[in-house]
Amino acid sequence: MLCVRAPGRVNLIGEHTDYNEGYVLPVALSLELRVHASPRSDTHCRVYSELLDEQYEFDLAALPAPDALPRGFIRYVAGVAWALQQHTGRTLTGIEATISSELPIGAGLSSSAALEAAFALLWNTLDNLGLERLVLAQLCQQAEHVYAGVHCGVMDQVAALLSEAGCALFVDTRTLFTQSIALPRDWAIVVADTGVPRTLAESAYNQRRAQCEEAVVALRPLLGEEVRALRDVSPEQGALYLPLLPEPIRQRARHVIGENARVLEFLNALAHADAARVRALMLASHASLRDDYEVSCPELNAMVDACMAAGAIGARLTGAGFGGACVALVEKSHLPEFLAQAERYYRQHARYEPRLIACEAAAGATRCV
Ligand code: GLA
Repeated sequence: MLCVRAPGRVNLIGEHTDYNEGYVLPVALSLELRVHASPRSDTHCRVYSELLDEQYEFDLAALPAPDALPRGFIRYVAGVAWALQQHTGRTLTGIEATISSELPIGAGLSSSAALEAAFALLWNTLDNLGLERLVLAQLCQQAEHVYAGVHCGVMDQVAALLSEAGCALFVDTRTLFTQSIALPRDWAIVVADTGVPRTLAESAYNQRRAQCEEAVVALRPLLGEEVRALRDVSPEQGALYLPLLPEPIRQRARHVIGENARVLEFLNALAHADAARVRALMLASHASLRDDYEVSCPELNAMVDACMAAGAIGARLTGAGFGGACVALVEKSHLPEFLAQAERYYRQHARYEPRLIACEAAAGATRCV
């Protein structure tokens, strides 16, 4: 029997930048899922989710196409098997696996990347594939593209596999350079789930990505062929050239260009534990996601207000948006009052039941101890 754990994540700043080859700063959470698996002597897989009380089976020697599988967790598992087999040219070992999870599904905490990371690590171990974590992360991303149909960036998978405990993970998603960034010890990370299930997330996400690509195509004749992605456009160039673009492409590009710059400033603010700067940057990120990128919703806005009214250092929506959760940074000494006040405020301003959880910054996927 082999047991693997993998964490959920929040992103402190750098939202919708990863598929624009930009910067992100996720943190792996002490909220995690676990997979217990026993190898079989054949290529058959039977996977049971305790949380959903659902079980599915497939065969690694004749992997079903994505559409032949029901939507949901099994697509991620089969997708990871597909990506690993494609990459290695090998047929993996069949398993009897059980998934247990404390990660809410659809809260924007990337339970899907955690699932992918766990199964990637599981087969990497069982079959002695010897693949590095960064390669596993990229294969998990491919699994998501092909088997879940979401053209996501690589942030969530890198966070789920490469994070270090106590740290956020800076990722340059173009070069895949990563660096662990220690978090101030007296700051807690609070996940503030709005209770609003993410809706239209897949189609709206893919549409935002396509709009960013359109912006690049429109900017290239103005700025030169070396502009490969919005990552290559500076805020100064943006100020000059974005007014020439039509809406909504202009707004989308303005968010991405500004957000990339905010990540770099945020690193500096964190290094100095500069709470005022952290607050300003998180709130500017949220406003940009709300107004320019248009991926927020009234409840996410109410939750940011609730967190700020309750004394957070900073707060913003985290992940793709369209429902899900906010992340707040909070002085640890102030946590109990913060949690009570923020919940009260949110209940007065939204119809959904909030769930606020104070988390530690955890390590990426590992074998269970
Ligand atoms: C989802 C995707 C990530 C990233 C975020 C938005 O979580 O999986 O790749 O694009 O949305 O920042």
